[in-house]
Amino acid sequence: MAGTWQHTTVLLNEAVDALLGKPDTPSATGPATYVDATFGRGGHSRALLARLGPQDRLIAFDRDPEAVAEASAITDPRFAIRHEAFSQLAGLPAAGIAGVLMDLGVSSPQIDDPVRGFSFRNDGPLDMRMDPTRGQSAAQWLATADTQQIAQVIRDYGEERFALPIAKAIDARRQERGPLATTAELAQLVAGAVKTREPGQDPATRTFQALRIFINAELEELQQALEASLNVLQPHGRLVVISFHSLEDRIAKQFIAQHSREVYDRRAPFAAPKAMRLKALGRIRPAAAEVAANPRSRSAIMRVAERTGAQA
Ligand SMILES: C[S@@+](CC[C@H](N)C(=O)[O-])C[C@H]1O[C@@H](n2cnc3c(N)ncnc32)[C@H](O)[C@@H]1O
Repeated sequence: MAGTWQHTTVLLNEAVDALLGKPDTPSATGPATYVDATFGRGGHSRALLARLGPQDRLIAFDRDPEAVAEASAITDPRFAIRHEAFSQLAGLPAAGIAGVLMDLGVSSPQIDDPVRGFSFRNDGPLDMRMDPTRGQSAAQWLATADTQQIAQVIRDYGEERFALPIAKAIDARRQERGPLATTAELAQLVAGAVKTREPGQDPATRTFQALRIFINAELEELQQALEASLNVLQPHGRLVVISFHSLEDRIAKQFIAQHSREVYDRRAPFAAPKAMRLKALGRIRPAAAEVAANPRSRSAIMRVAERTGAQA
């Protein structure tokens, strides 16, 4: 049910300002089209619509049907929602977009509603799909995946030291009593396999993060969407990426750095370098007041870059 659970938007004004370039000014150079790649509950989209001109457009993406249902209630003719993964923004017209915003990860409604299976705090079916209409749930994958593969996912995407003992515990459990079905079962199993607890952190935190990233192919999606944004952004178009953990932020940071420098071809040292396609504009963290009001914002890092006129 869309609407039952609330999401507090992180870096609301900062992201909209960064996307528009000039705070409080509707686009000065004629109609512009923006992309909110992660509609969620529409905090950024609504704030952006309030600042756009009458001829401007906003295209939003979300792979979660509940987010799409919420977006469908917006009747503003300048707005359109697409129930697609944001890597599909590659299909938008080349150099036709004035700004792309990605507010990564899961929304509070996804975490808070036990039925979605993302939370180790509230028991529910072990699902974790942002789009439950397609793909494999976490329970389905854990029922058949190879122990080494499970360990690798938990190690790589959760940076979990006890990845192998956790994977072995999952394997032992499915052989003895059948596959895991609920988030509480998994959380309990992980708590038994994690030997040293990190202060203030539930022992299941890293494993749940890892499975969620894997099940939703989050890092591959991010990489593809970043590549696509280079093609769809017009000169001076803005790329704004808000991430919530180091794996995502590293990808955004390296992508912006890689395209913000001139590239020389070592085999042709006297040829002109490939021009940079992005100009890095900086990195913003939430202010102390925002973190105090919304503890989920504490790990947020927003990176902003501007598309140059250079082609590939
Ligand atoms: C942090 S929330 C966005 C919150 C939103 N900015 C707001 O203010 O309400 C992230 C949203 O992005 C969606 N999402 C994450 N990865 C996605 C992807 N690869 N493609 C499409 N939607 C995605 C999730 O389903 C979730 O609704």
